[in-house]
Amino acid sequence: MEFENVPYYIKNIIYEFYTKYGKRILPTRTYIRAVTVVVEKTGKKDLNGVEIGVDHGFNAKTILENLSIKKLYLIDVKFKKKTIERLSKYRNKTKFIEKYSDKAAADVPNNLDFVYVDGGHDYNCVKKDIELYYPKVKKGGIFGGHDFDANHMDICRAVFEFVQKNNLKLYGKNSDWWIVKG
Ligand SMILES: C[S@@+](CC[C@H](N)C(=O)[O-])C[C@H]1O[C@@H](n2cnc3c(N)ncnc32)[C@H](O)[C@@H]1O
Repeated sequence: MEFENVPYYIKNIIYEFYTKYGKRILPTRTYIRAVTVVVEKTGKKDLNGVEIGVDHGFNAKTILENLSIKKLYLIDVKFKKKTIERLSKYRNKTKFIEKYSDKAAADVPNNLDFVYVDGGHDYNCVKKDIELYYPKVKKGGIFGGHDFDANHMDICRAVFEFVQKNNLKLYGKNSDWWIVKG
C-alpha cells in the first residue's frame, strides 16, 4: 500500500511516535493535523472553513478528505499550479483567494466553523491574522493554527498574548494550537 493511502489515524500514530523520539523525519503531508481531528470530532456537517497559507495544499487536502466541507476558503499570496491541480477534485468545495491574508479577510464570510492559521509566520502577521479572523468564527467553532513550537517563538507570542488578553483557554497538540470559541 502507498503511504499516501494509509488511513490517517495510523499515520498519526506513526507521526506521534517519531515526534516523541525526536525523529521528525515525516513530511507534514503524512498525517492529519490535530485541529482537523478536533473539528472532525465535533461531528458537524457542511462546514465552512478557512486555511490561511496553503502552499502545496497538503493540509488543505487532508481537511477536504476528512471533514464534511461545504466551502473551504483557501488563502495564499500565490498559488502554485500544482496546488490547484492537487485540489482540483474538490473544486466545488473550494474557493481560492490569491491575496495577502489581511486583504483576503473581506472576501471571507462570517459564521465560520473553523479557521486554520498557517500563513505569514512573523509576529505582526500572526497577530493580525488572529485579530481579523477570530471574529469570523461562530460560537463553538475552532480557531487554531500551526507551528506553535520552540522554533516559532513569534507565533507562540502572538497566540499567548491574544489568549491572555481575552481570557481564553488554549489547547495544543504536536505543533497545532487552537481555541474553542465560547
Ligand atoms: C507553511 S506554508 C503553508 C502550509 C500549509 N498550511 C500546509 O500545511 O500544507 C505558508 C504559506 O503561507 C503563505 N503566506 C505567507 N505569508 C502570507 C500572507 N501574509 N498572506 C497569505 N499567505 C501568506 C506562503 O505563500 C506559503 O505558501
